Amino acid sequence: MNFKQFPIFCLIIASLFTPLISQSIDSKKTRKIQSFDSDWRFYAGEIKGAENQDYNDSLWLKVDVPHDWSIEGLAQSEVNVEDATELPVVRGEWKFNKGDDTLWKSPGFKDSAWQTVKLPAPWEEHSNYTEDNVYGWFRRELTIPADSQGKDILINVGKIDDADETFFNGVKVGGLGHFPPEYVSAWDISRHYKVPREIIHYGGKNIIAVRVFDGVGQGGIYDDGKKVMEGIFESTSPGGSGAGYINAGTGWYRKEFKVPKSTQGKRVFIEFDGVYMNSDVWLNGAHLGNRPYGYSSFQYELTPHLKFGDKKNILAVRADVQQPCSRWYSGAGIYRHVRLTITDPIHLTQWGTYVTTPLVSDKEATVRVETKIQNQSNSVQQVMLETVIVENTGTKVTKSRSMLTVKPDSIFVFEQFLNVPKPKLWSPENPFQYRVESKVRANGLTVDNSVTPFGIRTFEFTLDKGFFLNGKHVTIKGVCEHHDQGSLGAAVHKRAMERQLEILKSMGCNALRTSHNPPDPALLDLCDSMGFLVMDESFDEWKQSKTMYGYGRFFDEWSEKDLTDMIHRDRNHPSIILWSIGNEIPEQENANAYEMSKRLVDICHREDPTRPVTSACNLAESADKNGFSKPLDVFGINYQLPFYGTYKGKAKLIGSETASAVSTRGEYNLVLNNGVLKIKNQLNNQCTSYDDSTAQSYLKAMKSSPWFAGEFVWTGFDYIGEPSPFPWPSASSYFGIVDLCGFPKDRYYLYQSQWMDKPMVHILPHWNWQGFEGQEIPVWCYSNCESVELFLNGKSLGEKKFSDTKDLHVVWKVPYAAGTLKAVAKYNGRTICTDEVQTAGAPARIVLTPDRTRINADGDDLSNIKIEIVDKDGHICPNADNLVKFKIEGTGIIVGVGNGNPISHEYFKANERKAFHGLCLAVIQSKGEQGTIRLSAESEGLQAAKVLIKVK
Ligand code: GAL
Repeated sequence: MNFKQFPIFCLIIASLFTPLISQSIDSKKTRKIQSFDSDWRFYAGEIKGAENQDYNDSLWLKVDVPHDWSIEGLAQSEVNVEDATELPVVRGEWKFNKGDDTLWKSPGFKDSAWQTVKLPAPWEEHSNYTEDNVYGWFRRELTIPADSQGKDILINVGKIDDADETFFNGVKVGGLGHFPPEYVSAWDISRHYKVPREIIHYGGKNIIAVRVFDGVGQGGIYDDGKKVMEGIFESTSPGGSGAGYINAGTGWYRKEFKVPKSTQGKRVFIEFDGVYMNSDVWLNGAHLGNRPYGYSSFQYELTPHLKFGDKKNILAVRADVQQPCSRWYSGAGIYRHVRLTITDPIHLTQWGTYVTTPLVSDKEATVRVETKIQNQSNSVQQVMLETVIVENTGTKVTKSRSMLTVKPDSIFVFEQFLNVPKPKLWSPENPFQYRVESKVRANGLTVDNSVTPFGIRTFEFTLDKGFFLNGKHVTIKGVCEHHDQGSLGAAVHKRAMERQLEILKSMGCNALRTSHNPPDPALLDLCDSMGFLVMDESFDEWKQSKTMYGYGRFFDEWSEKDLTDMIHRDRNHPSIILWSIGNEIPEQENANAYEMSKRLVDICHREDPTRPVTSACNLAESADKNGFSKPLDVFGINYQLPFYGTYKGKAKLIGSETASAVSTRGEYNLVLNNGVLKIKNQLNNQCTSYDDSTAQSYLKAMKSSPWFAGEFVWTGFDYIGEPSPFPWPSASSYFGIVDLCGFPKDRYYLYQSQWMDKPMVHILPHWNWQGFEGQEIPVWCYSNCESVELFLNGKSLGEKKFSDTKDLHVVWKVPYAAGTLKAVAKYNGRTICTDEVQTAGAPARIVLTPDRTRINADGDDLSNIKIEIVDKDGHICPNADNLVKFKIEGTGIIVGVGNGNPISHEYFKANERKAFHGLCLAVIQSKGEQGTIRLSAESEGLQAAKVLIKVK
């Protein structure tokens, strides 16, 4: 039975206030929650009948979830070329014409007056066709050998920027992307089209005609689409660069389980934190439901289809990841946790406790607790709800009891108000939490209980002064994050998220935007307990998709449910200060923009009137003109610095996305140009770590626009996919302030210098410039002190004050000489802190540094081991790229390796990794037993190293 089938009665109960607890909550758990993460079977690819109970899955792979089959390289290639020969048709001469005419597809059309061009090449190059939003056509002849008679063929029409329709002898054989008005680009997807034998002239001439639409940027058939497969990366992956060239496709999971006879009469639910994507779930062959959005959490009731006692139950899950479906790496599969919940027929509903704090003062806070209780028994029940507020430390504060008569097959809503004297307020500096402990009693027995953490705080966005938390001005110093965790892919690991937050916190960051989707619920728990302000975002697109198989397909049917569920799941988190209804929604430009945005804002207000709603707008003017931004409580502006003043005083404002600066850790791209050293922003698919002005221009804008609440920088960490500004072989992003492994780039220290009070100074670049002796190397320092004095080998190169420069760094040009470069940061002439870089000698040994030497024996906890290649004196070798091989023994496994190089195609799941600029990472997971993990690392010609991790 599902939620909608129940009549809902909402009653306001006069609460029985009890200032202090005399009786404690029953410690006996009536609700049984069991992890359903282990012992699944997995099959990559489509398979018939796998939902049926008697299907034989004994040959399938054994896996535990959270599981991401993409990162493991298990995906089936989408293009099946087995029964047909694929002809590469791109390379060579084609006829080309600007414009658009349907007659041009016909084989009889005379194209001799068209321009002859050599492909592959963007049409800006072969025809100087530089306009945007234009059409063009290509035609060529193709001879199909007579001995292929009777066979279908496949043609590889390469990569086409942006959308195409391809005709073979006048018949449409394929097309990717959408033409206007519903324009969707498929610019980096290879076209493999099947040509049926019926339309082929064997032994004779055939005509291929390709109609192309180009939105912005380059246009035409620019790449031959040749497949290069390196590890899990495929140059022609249908996911394209967005997905980091990693395939997905379809996957199946099955799990066998038994439920004891004693469970009969109870209600049994299965809860998924998220399955990517378009999942279907069956129990014993009965279809329980379909959930398209891969970021939504959902639950099904199993009770009606369950078998009890010794009988087996089979849960089957199919996930369908048709690519391209995302602008970033999504992962694929049951990538978050699964739980089985067993309750009494009278029970709390999923996300049924909603805690708000309508009145907060120094003296007292009023806490409103709304609790939904469902009666799935067939009799009228006298139900008592006892709600206790407890401090996180365990101190009980107050309780309330309410009684109600609950009809069968109904959901009742209890409303209770409780007072917390002298409330301890939640803030990033002191993330103090309370919890609501709920106990449900019926027929004199405790039938259900739950614990709901919450926090007490007030906040306000203002028109002119930014953001206030608990009455104090707070600048939002935030970052945007995608959900993958580097080498671990999309599979959720709480410790990996915690480590990311620790690294961000030590940069001075106090806020997170869950771009562009609901996060794993554990991330929000961490934000609550570690003190991060959160902008919880629902969608990257509405009806108008940004990718061929994006969410747009499901928006009309599912957006209300997905948004409502996100809010119900997340609305007790004190960390959340904003709901976002979407990122850079193309409908900002539509005539019905107001209606569309109002519908979603109204849903947010209906489900949680306590928080403001925003949307991250990249087209501020259109959003304003078309009314898109009107229903928003806070106008989120992505980039668009010139508009920072435009809406001053007219809307509450936040820099919902800023910067998008790109850099590669350890790359400086210094090149000699006419005898002078120059910084090249991009070189060999790497971006320099000398920050261009992008990041600092937003930091400065925030300082000079105090009416803004703050910013969310794109992005905190690098992520897999979207390797702008480069195509293949680049596979992961350059936007991170921190690389894919969690190693800070130089930009990290720029943000530290602006966001943190603790004194710091940082020098860049490294000091290994052999061959550039005497050349002037630009040396930059970031610091939050007043000035920095630089020394080379003990000799002062002068002191520079930040007040003397418009930049957020100070610069010296230092003629290169090997040795030690030291920065001394000062305040009022007094040395406050220092940093130094040394010229390293040849790589001599490996140093292993775990972030934790003791981890939990829960089969989940992680230790991240930093591997450094150092010289004989222990100085890191900034150019070392030695291959490091790992051996692991004891109660742990290696779950991921990485080095932060966006163009590396090495496996993430491996026992070896090359260093990149002297560093790589091995992520170790406990096996679920106590003991010791011994990791050793060796590399040819280097002194090996070992580390011990205790597992408790
Ligand atoms: C933004 C977008 C992000 C990311 C970023 C890269 O416009 O919202 O998802 O694509 O650009 O610069």
